[in-house]
Amino acid sequence: MASSGLVCETDAWKDLKAHVEDIKKTHLRELMSDAKRCQSMMVEFDGLLLDYSRQCATVDTFNKLNKLAEAAHLKEKINLMFNGERINSTESRSVLHVALRAPRGSVINSDGKNVVPDVWQVLDKIKDFSDRVRSGAWVGATGKALTNVIAIGIGGSFLGPLFVHTALQTDPEAAPLASGRKLHFLANVDPIDVARNITGLDPETTLVVVVSKTFTTAETMLNARTIREWISTALGPEAVAKHMVAVSTNLTLVEKFGIDPNNAFAFWDWVGGRYSVCSAVGVLPLSLQYGFAVVEKFLQGASSIDQHFHSAPFEKNLPVLLGLLSVWNVSFLGYPARAILPYSQALEKLAPHIQQVSMESNGKGVSIDGVPLPYEAGEIDFGEPGTNGQHSFYQLIHQGRVIPCDFIGVVKSQQPVYLKGELVSNHDELMSNFFAQPDALAYGKTPEQLLKENVPSNLITHKTFSGNRPSLSLLLPSLNAYNIGQLLAIYEHRVAVEGFVWGINSFDQWGVELGKSLATQVRKQLHASRKNAEPIEGFNFSTATLLTRYLEASKDILKEDCTVLPKL
Ligand code: F6P
Repeated sequence: MASSGLVCETDAWKDLKAHVEDIKKTHLRELMSDAKRCQSMMVEFDGLLLDYSRQCATVDTFNKLNKLAEAAHLKEKINLMFNGERINSTESRSVLHVALRAPRGSVINSDGKNVVPDVWQVLDKIKDFSDRVRSGAWVGATGKALTNVIAIGIGGSFLGPLFVHTALQTDPEAAPLASGRKLHFLANVDPIDVARNITGLDPETTLVVVVSKTFTTAETMLNARTIREWISTALGPEAVAKHMVAVSTNLTLVEKFGIDPNNAFAFWDWVGGRYSVCSAVGVLPLSLQYGFAVVEKFLQGASSIDQHFHSAPFEKNLPVLLGLLSVWNVSFLGYPARAILPYSQALEKLAPHIQQVSMESNGKGVSIDGVPLPYEAGEIDFGEPGTNGQHSFYQLIHQGRVIPCDFIGVVKSQQPVYLKGELVSNHDELMSNFFAQPDALAYGKTPEQLLKENVPSNLITHKTFSGNRPSLSLLLPSLNAYNIGQLLAIYEHRVAVEGFVWGINSFDQWGVELGKSLATQVRKQLHASRKNAEPIEGFNFSTATLLTRYLEASKDILKEDCTVLPKL
């Protein structure tokens, strides 16, 4: 598509800017009293219910946001993505994570080639391999079954799989299939993470999956070499072939590392790291833990949302509505953050995953054409499961900064508990908070109400809640593999919608490079100073002083000429 000007120059953007004044005059209390408005702000799809009536927005706001979507060519951009065009222009790549969960037999082209058969070839290979490991047909070097898996990877090669694993752990369908098995994640290059992972693990019964799109990420590769050392020290170097497999787009480097290419599971450069959980990155470790059938359901849930996102009209399209709301909150109402608040402990790793999906995608300062943005893109994401968050940072959300909140609730608990004699079940107790918090934020509490309650006058301002704080509620019927896939795809596409409207490239991540290259310079210096006592050179006063202190104080801690592994 031909490049266009900045979206802030369009009439639709200017119209929304002007509209802010009207909205700021209206309190959510009034907006919520209009049942017709509220009804028009509820959308259902495939068992999910989205209620966005507690947004500081009217029906008119949505008409204007739709005009903004038109002005930003949102529909065309979504189509370009699904058509496999190279919309990640700075890396000249298409963006086809939707192909990873497309049903067998469907057609999604990249550069004129249908990629779906390749996707299914890898999925079939994963099914076969994971079945063999799980059944004990594939054993370790000493003939023992491999019941522990360590997935080594970071960023997109870690957070998505961790999110899904954490969500499935207590699912009544998935949990029994993981009986006797353990899935561990090693992400941080901090040796403490290595120690925590291998403590109590027996190399004889451990399978290692090295997950790296590039197979060059410094942290992952050092962790992989460390765990390879752990295996060879215990079982001999030839054991590595039985105990280490890989997931990567770079099969040449996989082989160079010493992993049999037959035990490598491919994916493609049209899958962004943070969008890769539906590739072998997530599917392999999760299939090893739960079996492929469960993971296939997860892919089906994501695919259902993909089709909805591609075809539903915008006024009923969950990711589009959510994306437009985020743009409204960030760019027009001036609320730069968003809290992701699942009322489900199983979703405790949703926020960390979405932090990467959203902030690495949309944390950009220039348009897709390289023009500096005169408005801010991206949003600051954070979150915790309710009710833990309520006892932590909700104070700020209720009386401090205005932070639009995503409340995510589940109708049927994965693990119901009801105690005889209790007023409600444990899940009802949890959900009481899910239903109460959005209204507390929207309505607040006025000084008049407090006076009526005989609150002492010196406490009135302290106990007043301004209200008028936006949130949305998403209700899931249950939390199984399918719903988890739906939730993942909703957030992925929501982020894309925001980026499409802001006119940025949501699929590159140049901002992570500078720190990596400076770390390379430090690594070289540390080596040179330790090995040859070379003086510190090329750093500013501050860094040089810190480095000197670090080197001097750790002289006797480091042994250079022998391998040291954790001793826990
Ligand atoms: O943090 C930068 C990044 O490139 C992410 O985009 C990616 O998910 C992560 O590093 C890991 O990369 P890889 O899978 O290539 O090891």
